[in-house]
Amino acid sequence: MTDSLTVRDNRTGAEYDIPITDGTIRAADLGQIKTADDQPGLATYDPGFVNTASCRSSVTYIDGEKGVLEYRGYPIEQLAEKSTFLEVSYLLIYGELPTKEQYDQWVHEITYHTYVHENVKSFMQGFRYDAHPMGMLMASVGALSTFYPEASDIQDPANRHIQTVRMIAKMPTLGAWAFRHAQGKPYIYPDNDLSYTENFLSMLFKMSEHRYDADPRLAKALDVLFILHADHEQNCSTNAVRSVGSSQVDPYSAVAAGIGALFGPLHGGANEAVLRMLRRIGTKENIPSFIKGVKDGNERLMGFGHRVYKNYDPRAKIIKKACDDVFEVTGVNPLLEIAQELEKIALEDEYFVKRKLYPNVDFYSGLIYEAFQFPPEMFTVLFAIGRTPGWLAQWGELIQDKDQKIARPKQIYTGDRTLTFTPAEERWG
Ligand SMILES: CC(C)(COP(=O)(O)OP(=O)(O)OC[C@H]1O[C@@H](n2cnc3c(N)ncnc32)[C@H](O)[C@@H]1OP(=O)(O)O)[C@@H](O)C(=O)NCCC(=O)NCCS
Repeated sequence: MTDSLTVRDNRTGAEYDIPITDGTIRAADLGQIKTADDQPGLATYDPGFVNTASCRSSVTYIDGEKGVLEYRGYPIEQLAEKSTFLEVSYLLIYGELPTKEQYDQWVHEITYHTYVHENVKSFMQGFRYDAHPMGMLMASVGALSTFYPEASDIQDPANRHIQTVRMIAKMPTLGAWAFRHAQGKPYIYPDNDLSYTENFLSMLFKMSEHRYDADPRLAKALDVLFILHADHEQNCSTNAVRSVGSSQVDPYSAVAAGIGALFGPLHGGANEAVLRMLRRIGTKENIPSFIKGVKDGNERLMGFGHRVYKNYDPRAKIIKKACDDVFEVTGVNPLLEIAQELEKIALEDEYFVKRKLYPNVDFYSGLIYEAFQFPPEMFTVLFAIGRTPGWLAQWGELIQDKDQKIARPKQIYTGDRTLTFTPAEERWG
């Protein structure tokens, strides 16, 4: 067996041998396939990158058929159960688990970089009272590049490290302030005596009390949710970070682009749609007619199905457990009963079984976030905080990858050619 692909160009009768490496051919190798020397070489057309690898990566492994998700080789189930978000962040970014010293140092650094320059605060206060928190987060992360102009020195590992620490540390501060802004409440400064998620909950919900004591079960559940969202290989927002990062811009600008991608309803907005759907169903009695509507093709069962996972979404199982923990503290969300019944029916129904449709991460995450009393606009902000280490790990990998070039896809031009321009005064005259 030879690891190559023989291609015969029926336009010319010429044959080409194209090497296969890691189950891929290099698109550039197709460039030699031409009808004549002065003609462009053959290219592939792949909107949405559905069958094109854009990079080599050792950060995250997904096997959609088997329902496997691993960060740096470790199964997500083990990390969610036994690790912490900051340890997972270190693992994603540095490729291996930290020693005790490395971990302590990492947590210390992140804890002591949670403050932002006071001007960031005034900048955020300038937003309209009803500004979407995701728009505020995107803008303020982008603005951080002006506070740390040295961040543009992306080839220096020490510089990359400090900007990485800053971004993971400041994201909850910016996210919480965006939340407080919409409520007209004062921004709360970070408390360096608290853990990452306790501090975040404090900045979100503290009022006049001396210290906000988050329920440890809620702090832990949020930590698990962040772990589950920390990376998902080459998804839309990660691709945005890599694409913008490939111009060698600073990481704040690249991550701001990722936040923009995540803002879109096709990416980060599905859990909000699940909640809307559950509310619309309203009672268990209405489920059969709703399912019939789905099967008749009138609508989708939101939170079911996934482009990659065709067996089950491993994150959904873990989130279901986190749901129980959170509801123990907050009381059960009445929509949970409808969600569980819906899941039970759908998992037994021929329509969903045949199409391999299972609950995805969004089926339950919206219910949890609602139990925390987050408004739906905040759901994607939480996703962004969790995804930040993944974006930074992928960005760091990109910067050090000698194979990478500035992202510059080809196009198939479909417009006019060689028109002759007539000045406006003659055309309108
Ligand atoms: C996630 C999603 C976009 C993946 O889509 P995809 O891989 O392109 O799958 P397709 O749209 O090709 O669907 C394949 C079949 O399953 C059906 N299907 C997919 N998801 C469905 C859902 N949630 N409810 C009902 N039917 C669904 C499609 O109608 C199609 O049926 P057909 O073969 O009879 O035409 C899709 O499952 C979906 O819209 N889910 C709901 C939204 C959601 O939860 N998104 C969050 C993802 S993390």
